[in-house]
Amino acid sequence: MIRKKTVRDIDLTGKTVIMRVDFNVPLDKEGNITDDTRIRAALPTIKYVLEKNTKLILMSHLGRPKGQVKEELRMAPVGRRLSELLGKEVIVCKDSIGEEVKKIISGMQTGDVVLLENLRFHKEEEANDPEFAKELASYADVFVNDAFGTAHRAHASTEGIAHYLPAVAGFLMEKEIDFLGRLLYQPAKPYIAIIGGAKVSTKIGVLEKLLEKVDSLLIGGGMSYTFLKAKGFEVGNSLVETEKINMAFELIKKADEKGVNLMFPVDHVVADKVDESAKTKVVETNAMPKDMIGVDIGPKTVRQYKKEIKRASTIFWNGPMGVFEIDKFAKGTFQIAKAMASAKGTTVVGGGDSVAAVNKVGVADKIDHVSTGGGASLEFLEGKELPGIKVLEDA
Ligand code: 3PG
Repeated sequence: MIRKKTVRDIDLTGKTVIMRVDFNVPLDKEGNITDDTRIRAALPTIKYVLEKNTKLILMSHLGRPKGQVKEELRMAPVGRRLSELLGKEVIVCKDSIGEEVKKIISGMQTGDVVLLENLRFHKEEEANDPEFAKELASYADVFVNDAFGTAHRAHASTEGIAHYLPAVAGFLMEKEIDFLGRLLYQPAKPYIAIIGGAKVSTKIGVLEKLLEKVDSLLIGGGMSYTFLKAKGFEVGNSLVETEKINMAFELIKKADEKGVNLMFPVDHVVADKVDESAKTKVVETNAMPKDMIGVDIGPKTVRQYKKEIKRASTIFWNGPMGVFEIDKFAKGTFQIAKAMASAKGTTVVGGGDSVAAVNKVGVADKIDHVSTGGGASLEFLEGKELPGIKVLEDA
């Protein structure tokens, strides 16, 4: 297991703390935050740090501005939401480094919260530039990393800065490492994983690793069709990554060698187009029409998958079972979300879309751990050492 020092293991009293959070939240076209889960998830650490009579500087990226100032990606709406949630003023800077920022920080009083501007407005952030990291470090006495969602990036604010300050984890980081670490190192058996999403290519690493750990691996979503094609089925106009068919075939072989129960949908909702107005029907896997597209798992598959979820002691879910953004094609994904909520085993959900699904169904509070990491949770479960975690002080 990975054990890192946390905010509990260091004397924070009276210190200035700089804390990396992952406030990379989804925004609508008007710039409103559509899901504040990641802001809420950082509150326990923020409150704990403030209770120690500290000055707190928060920093995050938002979107992918690639070293340019993008007005629509400023942190101001995030600062407003955080201020509402904390019930206190949050001073939002117009930059993340420079004279203005220094002035604001030197004027801070105990209990003040400052939020730096989007770190990725400077290309030095993603380049993990040592001077940029040093500048951020110079603002504080202690570095806290609570940004699990960005821990797979070796950037100045997640990795570089930790070389210049005492560096510890926040509570969210600790919880993510704890839950995902148990999946990786000591899952209670039977352990099943449900993996969906459009493409097998983005999940191959984690699928391979999961085959070493799980008793059953349940596949859904668009990626099923690359596997079903590899197994020789007609898949109509469904999404297939032709160049990944061989890889899918190898995975099927590996599952067989390892004795893993690799399950694919036995029936499907097929549609003539990917649109709310589409004509749909339910067909079995061996009867996919040539001119239709698989858009969701069918009712028989849902029943089979629910049975597996019910008998498991550990269940990890990543990726939707179909095109769930369209209501008509969302049933399979929502049924899996509900089954996860009533499961007796330990349930962990990771990845933006499956997290959105449990939120939409309103069952997030019935899941043992909803990870704030998409890419980060997958890389963690692949067994990769995440640079933002590695660099923190060992416990
Ligand atoms: C995420 O949303 O997965 C994290 O905030 C990381 O964002 P990135 O993929 O743009 O680095």
